[in-house]
Amino acid sequence: MISLSEVDNFHHLITLDQNEIAYPWNDKQWELIKNHPNYYCIFSNEGSGFALIHETDVYHLLKIVTPEKERRSGHAKKIIKALIDNAKRKNVYLEVATHNLAAIKLYESNGFLIVDRVSNYYSDNSDCLKMLYSAK
Ligand SMILES: CC(C)(COP(=O)(O)OP(=O)(O)OC[C@H]1O[C@@H](n2cnc3c(N)ncnc32)[C@H](O)[C@@H]1OP(=O)(O)O)[C@@H](O)C(=O)NCCC(=O)NCCS
Repeated sequence: MISLSEVDNFHHLITLDQNEIAYPWNDKQWELIKNHPNYYCIFSNEGSGFALIHETDVYHLLKIVTPEKERRSGHAKKIIKALIDNAKRKNVYLEVATHNLAAIKLYESNGFLIVDRVSNYYSDNSDCLKMLYSAK
């Protein structure tokens, strides 16, 4: 895991987020967290995907993305495994849109469980699932 403030190609994150994720952040939101000490990235060793994590008493997986042309090659799975290895003593939680079946499969196949469903969570009124990986 690398601190977000130490990421060289910060603009790459914004570009991938805005091009490949259903509910991207705007530039201002990215700038707000850029130098915050509790935000971390995990990069894919081979591809150009990344995950963004906020650390408190738990790890909150905020985003994970691999570019469309690199998908189904195991890159996201490796990123999730690296996160879980890092998280050893902390739980990991996340929110995911109920229609994002690829991401839900990814999380379920790596030990995350659905713990809640929230109606109208996203700006287009989609529901989200809250999922938890328990470190214990
Ligand atoms: C979700 C996402 C990160 C998966 O990335 P990926 O690199 O293609 O995932 P992997 O190749 O590591 O796949 C790992 C597992 O996830 C599941 N999976 C991934 N894509 C899937 C799809 N399109 N349909 C069904 N299952 C899928 C499978 O269980 C897969 O294992 P398998 O290939 O052995 O069957 C990618 O589709 C993506 O970037 N989507 C857009 C961004 C997004 O929605 N991110 C999540 C919310 S922030």
